[in-house]
Amino acid sequence: MARVETSSSRPYHLVIFGASGFTGQFVVEEVARTVSEGPKGNLKWAVAGRSKQKLEKVLEQAAGALSKPELRTEVDIIVADVEEPDSLAAMCKQAVIVLNCVGPYRFYGEPVVKACVENGAHHIDICGEPQFLEGMQFNYSSQAADKGVYIIGSCGFDSIPADMGVLYTRDQFKGTLTALESFLTVSSGPEGGCIHDGTWQSAIYGFADSHKLQSLRRKFNHKPLPTVGSKLKRRGTLFYSNEIQQYTVPFMGSDPSVVKRTQRFLAEEYQETPVQYGAYAGIGGIGSIIKLMFAGMMFWFLVKFSFGRNLLIKFSVFLHIYIYMCVYLCVHQMEASSFQFAFYGEGYAEGEDPSQGKPSSKIRTLVQGPECGYVATPIAMVQAALTILNESTALPKKGGVYTPGAAFAKTTLIDRLNKHGIQFSVI
Ligand SMILES: NC(=O)c1ccc[n+]([C@@H]2O[C@H](COP(=O)([O-])OP(=O)(O)OC[C@H]3O[C@@H](n4cnc5c(N)ncnc54)[C@H](OP(=O)(O)O)[C@@H]3O)[C@@H](O)[C@H]2O)c1
Repeated sequence: MARVETSSSRPYHLVIFGASGFTGQFVVEEVARTVSEGPKGNLKWAVAGRSKQKLEKVLEQAAGALSKPELRTEVDIIVADVEEPDSLAAMCKQAVIVLNCVGPYRFYGEPVVKACVENGAHHIDICGEPQFLEGMQFNYSSQAADKGVYIIGSCGFDSIPADMGVLYTRDQFKGTLTALESFLTVSSGPEGGCIHDGTWQSAIYGFADSHKLQSLRRKFNHKPLPTVGSKLKRRGTLFYSNEIQQYTVPFMGSDPSVVKRTQRFLAEEYQETPVQYGAYAGIGGIGSIIKLMFAGMMFWFLVKFSFGRNLLIKFSVFLHIYIYMCVYLCVHQMEASSFQFAFYGEGYAEGEDPSQGKPSSKIRTLVQGPECGYVATPIAMVQAALTILNESTALPKKGGVYTPGAAFAKTTLIDRLNKHGIQFSVI
């Protein structure tokens, strides 16, 4: 059994690496809000990054956001840089869990995972890049198992709501759930959505490198997952969904990859019935389709060529400036945003044999919450970390590289999320 040290043997339960980033700042505020949920009602924590001055400002801003006089006396600062392995090792030796907010992960992630594995720290990230997530599974699973370390990827909006939503729906279904589709709708405030530099770059390079993922997947040499019950039909690339009453496209993020890895783990480890899964996202009416097709074609064209990627990244600098000039606006924008995953599942009622006939029973569930990237993501990441600290005996027996669903299937993570504004319900 892997051991989660929550005693005083390491100075910090949590170290937030990349705390000076746009998302990192919100993660710091979320940790500061939840210190009483740490082991024995206490949480020892530190912020880490490559600039001490920036980290001091982060703590000042977090204290302001929480209406506290200051945080500096209770929170330490660790200077660490991805380019300096010794600094990463020193950081990891002091942490029970590293909350890694330094992205794009394809560029900066692996040295941090390696340092965590080598120095016995658990690692949580908010990566939404399947190539990185699956690559870490390929490269570090057995080392992490040997060291008793949990490396748990995609613990933000990508992909906790979808992955835990599938498990929630399965657990609420009376019988054997065999297929599930999710339909994501995002409502933004009157000023529109908000995406930041690192998040933007992750998306650009994720699309550009999607072909490399196929060759990585071949290396795993997995047997196909058995299809239980009627085969789930894949929908088209653009269709009108009666479920959410709007035009809909397949969801392009990491959710399908993460859910499939979870289902594989649960089937192989606990002989649970794998659930087939299709992920879709609503885009609105005809006007939105025209805008999206234009933007999609431009984006697809630009990410294929290095000059295009550079252009998109230069554009992100303006976005960056815009966001910092409009922090007030952006925070209000976030307050007005929300997401909703509607799950539509089908399966076989209790006592029925899923290998005979068509599914006889249906279920609808919802997972909903606040703005995805910078409100829901810090909540999900911090609750994942608190679950490791408080429920170590409910984690998989061995350390390893896990999806959220694989790591947290037997824990109370969903209840914790419900208490923090990410709500799971049957409708
Ligand atoms: N799962 C989700 O739904 C979700 C939501 C939001 C964000 N994200 C992901 O989170 C990541 C961060 O996004 P962001 O928008 O917050 O990015 P960001 O504002 O650009 O922040 C990047 C952070 O990385 C740090 N960093 C860069 N190079 C470093 C190095 N060599 N050593 C140490 N630290 C280094 C930066 O430090 P400095 O301040 O010193 O430059 C900064 O703290 C992205 O991968 C994004 O996709 C995921």
